[in-house]
Amino acid sequence: RPQQSLAGRKVTITAGPTREALDPVRYLSNHSSGKMGFALAAAAQRAGAEVTLIAGPVNLATPAGVKRVDVTGALEMRDAAERAADLCDIFIGAAAVADFRPAEVAEQKIKKRDDNSEETLALIKNPDIVAGIAARKERRPFTVGFAAETEKVVEHAQGKLARKKLDMIVANDVSVADSGFNSDRNAVTVIDANGSMALPSALKTELAEQLIEIIAAKAQKQ
Ligand code: C5P
Repeated sequence: RPQQSLAGRKVTITAGPTREALDPVRYLSNHSSGKMGFALAAAAQRAGAEVTLIAGPVNLATPAGVKRVDVTGALEMRDAAERAADLCDIFIGAAAVADFRPAEVAEQKIKKRDDNSEETLALIKNPDIVAGIAARKERRPFTVGFAAETEKVVEHAQGKLARKKLDMIVANDVSVADSGFNSDRNAVTVIDANGSMALPSALKTELAEQLIEIIAAKAQKQ
């Protein structure tokens, strides 16, 4: 086989949703399937990398040869990501981290009230995991983020690239049918400081191969 583009490199990838507990039986989450992150992990492993896959709750098999760390909430994902990032060359944040978590986790199941009065839920912001890694002064891996957008896709993703201090961002338009969340296919635009490049609709497994080759080439030049 040809020279592997990520031979000897350590890659950390976050994937899937996070689940934010409300009480022992309830949580807040989102519809992320984890397919893109798992496909990236498989592609990076095939490209010769030593891969750590930090996975939220998903129904997917661990790609062959990949070290998987299962997590539930955003804070747990952050801790696992920070630990893995200390040792890696490339960090890819593909997880759909919940933006908020309940301000308090009730120890017992929250009971319905007898009256019909309004129930309110106090939420606090979760830490931005990929931005935390990208903001490092030391032991900073080449850092890649994802951006799911519904309009002005490239413009919004460019904003995130700059705000989060990422080296590269992969933007996808989730308003397009049969693309993004839960789909097996995706169409993305890759953006970095030098410009942008559109990758047409493809299976997530094929797209992952292309993205890994692009990331390997860019991380090399760093
Ligand atoms: O800001 P937004 O959530 O759209 O940014 C998406 C990118 O940021 C993804 O790479 C996602 O994995 C990452 N992210 C994160 N921690 C958060 C929110 C987003 O790592 N709390």
